[in-house]
Amino acid sequence: MTDISAPPADRRSTFDDEAVHDLLRGVAALTGSTLVGDLARAVAKTPRADLSIAFNHKQLGSKLWLREEWIAFNRAPDVRALVVGGWHGALSALLLDDPRAGVAHATSLDIDPGCAPVARELNRRFAEQGRFEAVTADMYDFDYRAQPFDCVINTSCEHIADLRGWLGLLPDGATVVLQSNDYRREPDHIACVDSLEDFEAQAGLAAVFFRGERPTKNYRRFMLIGRR
Ligand SMILES: C[S@@+](CC[C@H](N)C(=O)[O-])C[C@H]1O[C@@H](n2cnc3c(N)ncnc32)[C@H](O)[C@@H]1O
Repeated sequence: MTDISAPPADRRSTFDDEAVHDLLRGVAALTGSTLVGDLARAVAKTPRADLSIAFNHKQLGSKLWLREEWIAFNRAPDVRALVVGGWHGALSALLLDDPRAGVAHATSLDIDPGCAPVARELNRRFAEQGRFEAVTADMYDFDYRAQPFDCVINTSCEHIADLRGWLGLLPDGATVVLQSNDYRREPDHIACVDSLEDFEAQAGLAAVFFRGERPTKNYRRFMLIGRR
């Protein structure tokens, strides 16, 4: 006899999703954070997505670091940003949510078709304002010249085999923000670097305006802002 009380093997328990949703709504109410409310809705609307890694404090910490350095660097208003390897759209949400970042529009591109539905829910209030788009595509196949971007961000450099080859697809002089790390224990991390110097050499940018590293408990994250 079939046990109708047991969820299918490929489904997470809906109780978990409801509990996380309730908790996040509580935190949103306590803190007055619209962004936390957005995350609560994304959990409720995309209950099969595992958001716990993408939204853990280390992942968000690295994106808040990027946002602060971008704010310190950028002087342009109304920036159109493209985030490749954008995962569940957290970085786009953080940039669009902070007026200091000057980002008018963000596109989050990821090869995994499971990412765009979550990114769209998380960024729904920005999409409704015409400020956000999620795209499912391979960053190596995307036409970077078909529409103008003021800034191309790739925080997934440790995931791609040929960083220089990918950078070569961008228009000359494109402003880029890149992150990588030295965390080799993750099997998908096929292109880690051991130092900031190695990362600079791997990228081979025409100009570097910011270079920095950020230690975490188990690894170091590296960041470059420059021109390709
Ligand atoms: C684990 S996530 C993000 C890791 C990154 N350190 C961060 O914090 O943003 C890596 C993402 O890159 C995406 N990705 C890997 N190769 C890609 C490609 N060729 N084109 C587009 N997205 C890609 C994966 O689908 C995944 O969502």
